[in-house]
Amino acid sequence: MSTTRFLTGITTTGTPHLGNFVGSIRPSVAASLRPGVESFYFLADYHALIKCEDPVRIQRSTLEIAASWLAAGLDPERVVFYRQSDIPEIPELNWLLSCVTGKGVLNRAHAYKASQDKNLAAGREADDGVTAGLFMYPVLMGADILMFKAHKVPVGRDQVQHIEMARDMASSFNHLYGEHFVLPEAAIDEHVATLPGLDGRKMSKSYDNTIPLFTPREQLRKLIAGILTDSRAPGEPKDTEGSALFQIYQAFATPEETGALRQRYAEGIAWGDAKQLLFERIDAVAAPMRERYEALMADPARIEDILLAGAERARALATPFMRELRGAVGLRSLRTQASLPAHPKAARAAGLPTFKQYREADGRFYFKLVSADGRPLLQSTGFADPKGAGQCIARLQKDPDVIGTLNALSERVTLAPEASQADVELALHSLQAASS
Ligand code: TRP
Repeated sequence: MSTTRFLTGITTTGTPHLGNFVGSIRPSVAASLRPGVESFYFLADYHALIKCEDPVRIQRSTLEIAASWLAAGLDPERVVFYRQSDIPEIPELNWLLSCVTGKGVLNRAHAYKASQDKNLAAGREADDGVTAGLFMYPVLMGADILMFKAHKVPVGRDQVQHIEMARDMASSFNHLYGEHFVLPEAAIDEHVATLPGLDGRKMSKSYDNTIPLFTPREQLRKLIAGILTDSRAPGEPKDTEGSALFQIYQAFATPEETGALRQRYAEGIAWGDAKQLLFERIDAVAAPMRERYEALMADPARIEDILLAGAERARALATPFMRELRGAVGLRSLRTQASLPAHPKAARAAGLPTFKQYREADGRFYFKLVSADGRPLLQSTGFADPKGAGQCIARLQKDPDVIGTLNALSERVTLAPEASQADVELALHSLQAASS
């Protein structure tokens, strides 16, 4: 059975809150337990550097996020769970991808454009305070994803454009250098709600309206007491629509429990009582995890070991893959010389088919005509010497009577199994047009 590989990264700049739990941690941990799924989850600490210049906070957040995911049930035997900065192949791939990514594509990235718009609105220069790191953010993300040949990338809607960019990087690279990368797809879970925060807006660190996932019990009670409600008195019926309290409850409760609270809203439950219900519901979910979380936080060396073991598994894939990619682009040992024709890359970059010459174990000389996207079109029989093969190629490349040439050489070259005569004629015509 073929497995689907899921990969996602968590930027290490903050302390996990209930919104992260509902929107990302809980569904990702559940997904990792499904059969036929292989999961790669990592701490995106290189990405964190783009947003955060506080080293203490980066380290602290890395610890807290790792502890949170483990406390929430992530099984590091099952999931490849690692820290981005433990994989030196990722920044290496970042460079190769930078070289196939159009600057104009990055100019159009939403996150970069948002920073520019903000600057312009404030009367500043468009790129004021924008680092090259922020500009390159999507390429680093592409490296994260493409390195591990992920099929599906669970992300929020704000990240979908980045996944599309990663796809484009993969196709550009594959087009230039052959099929190396899997084209990833964003996976958006329609059922996962975004959680409102204390003030009713989306729960987000940037709005300062979060409830930390593992805040102590009494602190949790206090924070929940601060959730914004309307001013309806006890006994007055209340609206579930637009009630942050209700929406948060729903994210932690069963459908039956949610139905019961809806009923009590209609009957005019006092806000204080509703808050008490919410507090108890969340605490029932959080308490067992909180205990594991505190044990993990008290033993950072154990988390370090878990992450290093994850990095080792990740690098078992990344190291050989990076070697393959280096070879593909020509970062090669000089001890071995390529037997390819002079400029295959240039020809393929122009979308042209290429002739490939090679020698088989039988000692004879062969050639193939291969389309720009790597499909074999023509296959030769064996020649006693390279000159014979070369003359045959020259004729195919030069004689404008393509059909006549193919007929005349029918003992020497045959159509590849998947190719049609029309494919081959078209390919030869385009080669001739390009060289004239
Ligand atoms: N940019 C993502 C976010 O802010 C985090 C991230 C980094 C990521 N690399 C990734 C997500 C690769 C998915 C895949 O949420």
